[in-house]
Amino acid sequence: MTAPFILVNYKTYLESTGQRGHRIATAARDVAAESGVTIGVAPAYMDIHPISRHFEIPVYAQHVDWVLPGASTGHVTAEALHQAGAIGSLVNHSERRLTLADIEASIRALREKKMVAVVCTNNEPVSAAAAALNPDYIAIEPPELIGSGVSVSKANPDIISRSVEVVRRVYPAAKILAGAGIQSGECVKIARDLGCDGVLLASSVIKAKNPALVLRDLVSPF
Ligand code: G3P
Repeated sequence: MTAPFILVNYKTYLESTGQRGHRIATAARDVAAESGVTIGVAPAYMDIHPISRHFEIPVYAQHVDWVLPGASTGHVTAEALHQAGAIGSLVNHSERRLTLADIEASIRALREKKMVAVVCTNNEPVSAAAAALNPDYIAIEPPELIGSGVSVSKANPDIISRSVEVVRRVYPAAKILAGAGIQSGECVKIARDLGCDGVLLASSVIKAKNPALVLRDLVSPF
């Protein structure tokens, strides 16, 4: 079985803000080097540049504003993220919801900069709608399990398999991530067995006393 893609969402946790975020990036870099598994991070905006400069790991933003460079106060453009070293961005995370039109515009803004769009969805119909916009990734995450410590792979594998089925039907080129409560290699293997290309996670790594230990377990089946 080919190795998964693991994306660690820093969110706004104190444990992943500023210099503390470098501890997690170090763990991602080291475990990726040991295992050959691609491990990316999605830090807060202010940490994208330092982390992308210090670590040879894929760095993503947690959100992108679809506005173009110019008179757009208080927005963060794909151009700015690209110059900061981000290779892509989450779009429509359930903690940063967008309209369908905003999702489409965000994917377009990222595509214009040749950046990766990871569109987050909360159920199969939203996964189908997102797939119709041809993103690079779709990350299916039932909101009720996010941060719960209860793994979607075990608690609700059907939402993963149904989303995989509908995305493969609508836009077969999309890669698919499963997220919410992912905490072990077993969770990752179940997601891969259900047809996912990887996982999107946060608390099991961000809040860990030893993030490298958790990451090693996540990649252990591969
Ligand atoms: O973006 C991933 C996140 O929403 C999942 O959170 O803490 O359940 O891994 P968590």
